[in-house]
Amino acid sequence: MNYVAPKGTKDILPSEVKSWQALESLFSQVAERYGFGEIRVPTFESTELFQRGVGDGTDVVQKEMYTFLDKGGRSMTLRPEGTAGVVRSFIQRGMSSLPFPIKLYYMVNAFRYENVQEGRYREFHQLGVEALGSAEPEVDAEVIALLQQFFEAIGLKETKLHLNSIGCPLCRSAYEAALKAYYEPKRAELCSDCQTRMERNPMRLLDCKQSACQKIATEAPIILDYLDEGCEAHFARVRELLERLAVPYEVTPRLVRGLDYYTKTVFEYVSENVGTQGTICGGGRYDGLVEELGGPSVPACGFAIGEERLLKEVQAQGISLVEENVQGLFLAHRGDEAKLKAFQLAQELRKAGLHCQTDVCARSLKAQMKYAAKSGLSHVLVLGETELESGQGQLRRLSDGKETLVEWNELDSLLQAMKG
Ligand code: HAM
Repeated sequence: MNYVAPKGTKDILPSEVKSWQALESLFSQVAERYGFGEIRVPTFESTELFQRGVGDGTDVVQKEMYTFLDKGGRSMTLRPEGTAGVVRSFIQRGMSSLPFPIKLYYMVNAFRYENVQEGRYREFHQLGVEALGSAEPEVDAEVIALLQQFFEAIGLKETKLHLNSIGCPLCRSAYEAALKAYYEPKRAELCSDCQTRMERNPMRLLDCKQSACQKIATEAPIILDYLDEGCEAHFARVRELLERLAVPYEVTPRLVRGLDYYTKTVFEYVSENVGTQGTICGGGRYDGLVEELGGPSVPACGFAIGEERLLKEVQAQGISLVEENVQGLFLAHRGDEAKLKAFQLAQELRKAGLHCQTDVCARSLKAQMKYAAKSGLSHVLVLGETELESGQGQLRRLSDGKETLVEWNELDSLLQAMKG
């Protein structure tokens, strides 16, 4: 039997993992600058949390959840996203008694049983933030500015966001009535999914990927015409603040989101570079979710970035997040005594903080030198009988072959020579 990773999952190998680490480290640095602290929540939660949180009518809950009964007969689900679990924790851990806003960020794997294609997986990773406890538009703008600053720190170009407001439930009911009135005469032209959406969740009609439905959507009424005074003022202020911060955005009046909990501000970052699955980040305000999940009435706002898609974008823009070669030493050896000395010296150098390798595969000196050249380390030093006797050796820089005579058993001078 040859075992293979399940469809839609990936092994992230050491050669790739460096880019992931670089992204995650940048993300936490930027999030912490804004006062966000990392939270780690369970990979699985009760199924009901996601049904209520993400929304019963969404594709995620209807078709995509990895749900199972545990041995105690409880229905559990592998998280399809990060927000519901974070909100559950906010409520359960009594965070509403702490000074607001509560600012949390996370780096999680998530699971959706989707049709697998480039950029769409069954296990994927999200980098996300959630700010809970303020209804002010400053929070929306701050969260978007954080996203923008993260993109800038990566070195991404063209990071214009799509921005919209989907109002509060009050504006939305008037808007949904208008949408239904527009779509009703066109019902027969819609795909079967959209025919169901008309009853369950009319705003999702705007988001259908079928070309016939997309064409109809281009003429559909827009929510911005239905915002009440409060929602309109909120949206105007978010835009004003983003302009103040010179954060590029474009109002996209037919932008809607696939999860049920959003209110007012919604946004996405979509790239042309990464194919059909171009949505790299999605987020927005969700003022009703904490209460919906049994907590107090606490407004909130956040986003999540798909890490696989972001990495693809980084690559497409020709950005390298990692240095190819590390400052480090390969200690080659010839003869048994030198081998033992190299083994010991390698340990000392690692203790001093240096990347250091020595041969542990009984290779010939020639093979060791070949291995060293491909190791990604910056220097090589051969220890043999002569070097052991004299205490000196040639430190060779692999990039250009430059050699320096060093006292190899004086760690400080060796480390110094490697810097030069
Ligand atoms: P979402 O739009 O469902 O929002 O997902 C956020 C991002 O996760 C997407 O833009 C995409 O990059 C990535 N993603 C989603 N599904 C897949 C998949 N099957 N394969 C690869 N990447 C995927 C949320 O999850 C919300 N919780 C975001 C949020 C946080 N809103 C407020 N706070």
